[in-house]
Amino acid sequence: MLVTGKQILQHADEHGYAVGAFNVNNMEIIQAIAQAADDLRAPVILQASQGAIKYAGVDYITSLVKTTADRIDVPMTLHLDHGTDFEEIMKCIRSGFTSVMIDASKHELDENIRLTKEIVRIAHSVGVSVEAEIGKIGGTEDQIVVSDAEATYTDPEEARIFVEETGVDSLAIAVGTAHGVYKGEPKVDIDRIKEIDRVVSIPLVLHGSSGVPYNILEKAVAAGIRKINIDTDIRASFAGAVKAFVAENPDEIDPRKILKPARAAMTDTVKEKIKVFGSDGKAWK
Ligand code: G3H
Ligand code: ZN
Repeated sequence: MLVTGKQILQHADEHGYAVGAFNVNNMEIIQAIAQAADDLRAPVILQASQGAIKYAGVDYITSLVKTTADRIDVPMTLHLDHGTDFEEIMKCIRSGFTSVMIDASKHELDENIRLTKEIVRIAHSVGVSVEAEIGKIGGTEDQIVVSDAEATYTDPEEARIFVEETGVDSLAIAVGTAHGVYKGEPKVDIDRIKEIDRVVSIPLVLHGSSGVPYNILEKAVAAGIRKINIDTDIRASFAGAVKAFVAENPDEIDPRKILKPARAAMTDTVKEKIKVFGSDGKAWK
C-alpha cells in the first residue's frame, strides 16, 4: 500500500518511533527492503536520489516500487531523496512519487525558503508530501558534496521560521551526522534535536545515519527523530556479499546466483535497522 510521506511520518510521530528510509537503485535492493519490512510488519520509505533515477530511470523505479506496494501489505512511501533540481522533482511527482525532498540547503535561509515554498505549493496541490533541509549535512551523497568546513548545524530558531514560512511536511536537520563512511565516531547533538523538536511541530529527519552507533540512534528517536535515512550501510552489505560470493565462486556467471546472497544480506541489514528505529510491528494495515 503506497501512502504519502505525511501519512507515514504522522503515524510514527503519534506512536513515538522512526520510519526507516532506505535508498534504492535497482530491483534487488527494493525487494530486499520490502522483504525486511514485510517480515517485521514495519512501515517503510523507499527513496531514490537523482543519481538513482539517472541510473535506473524514473519509470523503472516507480513501476518497481508500485509493484512492490501492491504485493506487500505494509504502508510504503516512494520518496525523492535530495531533490535539487526543479524539473527532476516535477518528473517524480508526475511519475507517481508520494513524497519529494527539496534540498535547497546550500542556499541562504531566504532563498531556501523561497525555493522550498514553490515546491510545497505544487506538490501539495496534487497530494504529494515535501521534506526540506535546513543546516548543511556534511559528507557525500551522490552528487551532493559538503566538506567538513562547509557543514553547519541547524539553528532551532531558523528551523522554526523555516517551517512556519514554507508549510513543509518534514524537516531534515544537521546535528552532527554526515553522508557516507565515518572516519571516527560521529558526535550527534541530541540536545539540539530536542530543542528543534520543541519549537517545530512537524516530523524531523536524520540523514547520514549509516555507521551511527545504535544507542545514539535510539537516543535520536527518543529526542524526536521520525525518519532515518540509510544508504551507505545497504551499499556495504550488497558489495560485501557480492565480493564474498565471487571470491568463493570465481567461475560463476549467473547474475541470479551472484545477486541472491547480496539481496539476503541487505534484508538482514534493513531488519537490524528497523528494530533499532522501533518501527517493527507498527504497520497499521
Ligand atoms: O539521503 C540519504 C541518507 O542521508 C543516507 O546517508 O549513506 O550515510 O546512510 P548514509
Ligand atoms: Zn541524505
